[in-house]
Amino acid sequence: MRRMLVGLTAFFLLCALIGCATPGSPSVSSLTQATPAGASPAEEASTPSSPSTPETGGGKADPTQSNVLVAYFSATGNTRAIAEHLQSILNADLHAIVPETPYTAEDLEYGNGHCRANLEQNDPASRPAIANELENPGLYDVVFLGYPIWWGQAPKILYTFLERYDFGGATIVPFCTSGSSGMGSSADGLQALAENARWLPGQRFSASASVSDVASWVESLDLPLSSGEEERAGTQLLLTFEGGEAHIVLENNATTRDFLSILPASLLFQEYAGCEKISYLAEEVSTAGAPERYDPRVGDVALYAPWGNLAIFYGDADSASGLVPMGRVTSGLELLSSMEGEFEVQISIFE
Ligand SMILES: Cc1cc2nc3c(=O)[nH]c(=O)nc-3n(C[C@H](O)[C@H](O)[C@H](O)COP(=O)(O)O)c2cc1C
Repeated sequence: MRRMLVGLTAFFLLCALIGCATPGSPSVSSLTQATPAGASPAEEASTPSSPSTPETGGGKADPTQSNVLVAYFSATGNTRAIAEHLQSILNADLHAIVPETPYTAEDLEYGNGHCRANLEQNDPASRPAIANELENPGLYDVVFLGYPIWWGQAPKILYTFLERYDFGGATIVPFCTSGSSGMGSSADGLQALAENARWLPGQRFSASASVSDVASWVESLDLPLSSGEEERAGTQLLLTFEGGEAHIVLENNATTRDFLSILPASLLFQEYAGCEKISYLAEEVSTAGAPERYDPRVGDVALYAPWGNLAIFYGDADSASGLVPMGRVTSGLELLSSMEGEFEVQISIFE
């Protein structure tokens, strides 16, 4: 026992010294239309013009992989934010459509009739090249397709995308962001390129739409989700603490089902290694079906099974065995990370 304590103490010291780098740490759319209303894309941009790197891999070949795909093009980050909400809610695969030539701020100056985006939108034959591939497109049952409204329409790169892949057997659900325009007829041109798919009516979101806004829309949809997919669709949690509020979307797995059974709960959180807020759970929760290890992203919520602690990652951490993915923080991560010392968090299901 003593040897075990010494060993554990040494391990703790090592973890504290090298922080979260330690695997196994307790880690947890013609220009004849009116000028677009609303802020310019550049003003609305929250991120650089290049969307995130592709996240998808291959479909059903891996049983843990989702059959729901969220594919999107986003020049300035607004559509990407909605796509990420969808990913969290449905535990879907996320695929950024990356232009071979990234759009610069100048390319997006729609007030200039000769800017690249305007020229492309005015040219029926324009098909901007895509830099990345979507693997196993035929394996998805549901495809959410996101884009910014450009002059009332979808950017031509979406046409390139749909001409490249066959989504014949899938249900396609378009969504978009815009300064103020609605979805309008923006999906009509796209629909003509995937006529064999079943298209559901789409939805326009503002850049600031919340996870709840998106979740409510998803709930209203007639999606052909298998029982497994239904099961994976996430439950939202509300975290209330002295510094404010945060929200989490849980995955649906054995661990989260057990965790849900102990809610509502008041948990004591503490800082860990400059990248996590952790809380030891009073009860053991199942790890059935958990991956052997996984690499948490900032905003992930996990169980570190060996120590029985919940972990909310607000910083970079390495992959660790024994770490079980539970969900993602969808709001309030900064507030949580700024909490010092020990702090109480009331956790309840967000209705
Ligand atoms: C070339 C161009 C045309 C646009 N046309 C419209 C429009 O017709 N209606 C509108 O409300 N917003 C329009 N916008 C604004 C974008 O739809 C809006 O900023 C969108 O959220 C950007 O999404 P993103 O950040 O994912 O690229 C346009 C922007 C650009 C660059």
